[in-house]
Amino acid sequence: MTVSVSRLQAARRGSLAGEAAAPGDKSISHRALIFGALAAGETVVSGLLEGHDVLRTAAAMRALGAGVERDLTDEGPIWRIEGAKWRDPERPLYFGNSGTGCRLVLGAAAGQGVAARFDGDQSLRSRPMQRISEPLVLMGARIVTEAGRLPVDLSPAALRGILYRLPVASAQIKSAVLLAGLGAGGETVVVEPALSRDHTERMLKAFGAELKVEQDGGGRRIRLQGGQRLKAARVEVPGDPSSAAFLVAAATIVPGSDVLVRNVLINPLRAGFFETLSEMGANISFENRRDLSGEPVADIRARHAALKGVAVPASRAASMIDEYPILSVVAAFASGETRMDGIEELRVKESDRLAAIEVGLKANGVATASGPDWLIVSGASGAVRGGANVATHLDHRIAMSFLVMGLASQRPVSIDDASMIATSFPEFAPLMQGLGAMIAP
Ligand code: S3P
Repeated sequence: MTVSVSRLQAARRGSLAGEAAAPGDKSISHRALIFGALAAGETVVSGLLEGHDVLRTAAAMRALGAGVERDLTDEGPIWRIEGAKWRDPERPLYFGNSGTGCRLVLGAAAGQGVAARFDGDQSLRSRPMQRISEPLVLMGARIVTEAGRLPVDLSPAALRGILYRLPVASAQIKSAVLLAGLGAGGETVVVEPALSRDHTERMLKAFGAELKVEQDGGGRRIRLQGGQRLKAARVEVPGDPSSAAFLVAAATIVPGSDVLVRNVLINPLRAGFFETLSEMGANISFENRRDLSGEPVADIRARHAALKGVAVPASRAASMIDEYPILSVVAAFASGETRMDGIEELRVKESDRLAAIEVGLKANGVATASGPDWLIVSGASGAVRGGANVATHLDHRIAMSFLVMGLASQRPVSIDDASMIATSFPEFAPLMQGLGAMIAP
């Protein structure tokens, strides 16, 4: 897969209107492929996100021995995954930009006793891997990192279950340890300090695993008995709330807009952004609530509204961790200050998002202040100047956030590189154009 650097610009042009389906949820898509590759039998997945990150995970599952096929049907693509005993891949597993794919597969592969090298792009090579290797090594895994980062070499070893208290509320660490625990001897217990997304726990159950989940302080304690073989399942992947956030945000800040985003996952552990927008005075409603493969979904209608700044508590961070870039853009259009606390994890995402947001906002005439784990955005009551070219640092969410800004700012906003948008939301630009947005090279 080759990606080329491409500049894009967004400009104000009337209101946004119409309907769009959110692309498949990235977290659930990675997990469907990994769980399917571990399970006995054929797992059938519909609605899979066909973004670059997820396609890298599909390629990794193939390299580890699973059968992975894509059928084009009248209802759209169907992915069929034939689980297998994992084997050593012939070449290094390359995860591109994807922290989730790399970390979850590292955990699962450690549990399956595989020898493999893990690598990624320049962004992923700069991100911490020790947070994953540390608990896995405690379980008995043999892992060598490059000073805590990629490339990482995994060698075969028998694992034993441990009790592990996560140092941060990270679903990636939790999931890596649980996936390793599937192949370990004895019980693996993970205790999280605060609630993080629970797709792994939900999907483990859907694939027939037995696990116990109990409340533990502000988080949960999850117990999983090792040596369980998953059973293939059918997975319908709901739309990604982290991608829907860009559409809902755009409709909220562009005057006169009215947009319906269909099929959005509204799992409470992912819904912090919509909760915050509502507190700011946004006009969003949840219609047609239903259940899809054990996850709650709804259609979200968003109309333009005048917003006011709010304080976003640290306790909400995990439920909207990927939405702070777009929330910061929305906050720039509100009246008054928006303060976000407890967001130190933004520094180790696809880029240092706290820094990238601040630089981009300031360049477009928005006043900000920040500390190690907090950010304040001073809202301009709808009158954001814009006019800058924003550096995206290989970060898809920085790219999409500033394009959304350009749809409502006084002067157009451009981004230096749109290529990474395809990691999570390949249809972003055409879909926005279909709603009336002016986004062009
Ligand atoms: C994810 C967990 C989050 C999130 C990432 C996807 C997952 O990371 O930022 O985009 O699918 O488990 P952390 O759990 O490391 O915060």
